[in-house]
This record gives sequence, C-alpha cells and structure tokens, in this order.
Amino acid sequence: MIGAGAGNTTFADISAPMEESQLVHIIRKPDWAISEAHATPEETFLNRRQLIKNWGMAGLGLAAAAAIRPGRAFGAEDPTADLYPAMRNESFVLDRALTPETVNSSYNNFYEFGSHKQIWKAAQALKTSPWDIEIDGLVEQPMTIGFEDLVRKIPLEERLYRHRCVEAWSMTIPWTGFPLSELVALAKPLSSAKYVRFETFLNPDVATGQRQSWYPWPYVEGVTIEEAGNDLAFMVTGAYGHPLDKQFGAPIRLALPWKYGFKSIKSISRISFTDTRPVSFWENILQKEYGFWANVNPAVPHPRWSQAEERILHTGDKVETLIYNGYGDQVADLYKNMKGEPLFM
Ligand code: MTE
Repeated sequence: MIGAGAGNTTFADISAPMEESQLVHIIRKPDWAISEAHATPEETFLNRRQLIKNWGMAGLGLAAAAAIRPGRAFGAEDPTADLYPAMRNESFVLDRALTPETVNSSYNNFYEFGSHKQIWKAAQALKTSPWDIEIDGLVEQPMTIGFEDLVRKIPLEERLYRHRCVEAWSMTIPWTGFPLSELVALAKPLSSAKYVRFETFLNPDVATGQRQSWYPWPYVEGVTIEEAGNDLAFMVTGAYGHPLDKQFGAPIRLALPWKYGFKSIKSISRISFTDTRPVSFWENILQKEYGFWANVNPAVPHPRWSQAEERILHTGDKVETLIYNGYGDQVADLYKNMKGEPLFM
C-alpha cells in the first residue's frame, strides 16, 4: 500500500525492525576493505576522532558482510564474477562507515518483489543471465545488447557512495560499475535527445509485486542528458567486491547519490533517449510527493515528513541531511540556471 499511515516516513511501511540479529561478527578483513586513506578530509566532514571511530565500525561491518550474504547462497556462480573486485576510484570517499553488507542486502526497496524491506529471498526468483538491454529512441542505431557483452566493453571501477532514501534512512555502499556517460557514448544519442529514460524488466511470473495492478509497471526513471553526463551518475553492476546480488537490482542498476534513492532504478532492461521528460514510477503514482528532479535537500520537507535528518542503517544514528546529499560540489552547477523548477521533490 502506498503511503500507509500519514506521517510515516515511508512509501509503504518501514516500521519493521532491521534484522540485525542475523549478523554474525567474525573479524576478517576482505581484500577490498577500506583504509583510512580513503576517508574524506576531516575539515570537510568530521573530526579525526570521529573518523577513527567510524573506520573502526567499517571494519566490523565488512567482517559481518563476509559472514552472511543473503542471496548468494542460492545462486550459481555469476558469469561475470571474474571482473571483481575492480580497482577502487579513490576520488569517491565517504564521511562515515560503510554499511555492513548483511544489513544492506537484507533491507531493500524493490517493489517488484513486495512493498516491504524484506524482499531479498523473493528477489532470488529473478533470472539475470542471459539479460538483454534494449537501447532505443533518439540514437544513431537502436540496439539490443547482452549484459555480459556490455559489462566487458567498459572498464569497471569501485566507488564508495552514500545513498539517501526519500524515506529518511541512509546507507553507504561500495558500488562497482562504470560512469553512465560511458553508456551514453556507446549509445550515440542524436543531438535532439534531451533525456535518458530507464525501464526495469516486466515479468509478473517471477516478480510477484508486478501482479499488483494498481502500480504502473514497469518501474521507470529518467534523467536529463546533462545529468547523465555528470561523473557521479554511475551504472552499477556490482557491490562489495562482487557482482550485484539480485535484491540490489542485478544485473545492472543506476546510482545517483545526490538524488533520493528512488531515482536509482534497479534491474534495467531498457534505456531510451527521448526529447520528452519521462514520468517516473513514483511520479506517476503520487505526483505531489515524488517529482522528476528529486535532489536531496534537508530544507524541503516531503509533504508528509521532514527531510532535515536521516537515520543511518545499522547504527540507527540520526545525522543531519546535507544538500545534494553532500555532493553539491559535483552537481550544483547542473541546476544553477533553473528557475521555478521543483528541484527538491
Ligand atoms: N528500482 C526498482 N525497479 N524498483 C524499486 O522498487 N526502489 C527504489 C530504488 N530503485 C526501486 C528501485 C528505492 S525507493 C530505493 S531507496 C532504492 O532502489 C533502494 O536500493 P537498495 O535496495 O539497494 O537500498
């Protein structure tokens, strides 16, 4: 159900407690673990003592991640597993600890598999290999490309990103993938293309949520061509040093860390270039609450709750939300000449 309970910070119902009891804390540092050198300069974010505390927590989180990994136990070896772990791009750093993989991979929004957070098991029904992606619309030559071909055409890199859900919780995650701009270059859009529209698969046989006919399936999202060209816009194919687990939106999803999480569409099967602004899934359902731009801004409340703070997954700490989720230096210029646009919903 959408917007259950006025005043709840949720699309649906996020009142269920996190399943932290599942975590087994075995201290083991994976080879892709973060080092202190990757921390954001302290003058930018936190004092040094806080940083040390946070990186210590990250170590524990990574250890927990190594212990249980919801979703992987059931899958066959991924045909792209040889590409991981990818080299980390050191330009993308965090101001806080990484969220343990066990937490991130068992607390997901993926309405195709249910309108609650515990969808990871249901998502294992999705067959992600082979996986075709259609690229069409205003391009020189429409094409269908297999994911396994695509992922070997563009070098992969790892980036540490923040993720801020419109429901006022946040996480941090080591994504692996490639810049969206690389995919745009491969697609060769015409100069008339103004937007990129993304679509998730449609298969109600496996995605039971898609049998709920009151939702406007398939899930759709969109960005402007300029946003797609921003270096932060990232096509994600892996997380935590291995191919994406299904609940994260395998085999390929988007990460737009300066926007609310609903813009980061999962399990993409179609990418279209268009001169018409796409209407996204949530905008289609609740236009007054979920707009096209959806840039993070603590000063602009959601109609039913404040966006001033966020709850960090796993620790439960409340921290102040930052404009553009802290990525203003990289993205604010995209919007500087826009007047009268609802940029923050
Ligand atoms: N993409 C699809 N196809 N379906 C969804 O329900 N949920 C969005 C986004 N992408 C969603 C989606 C929302 S609301 C969020 S917050 C993020 O995915 C959650 O990503 P995560 O589960 O990896 O944390």
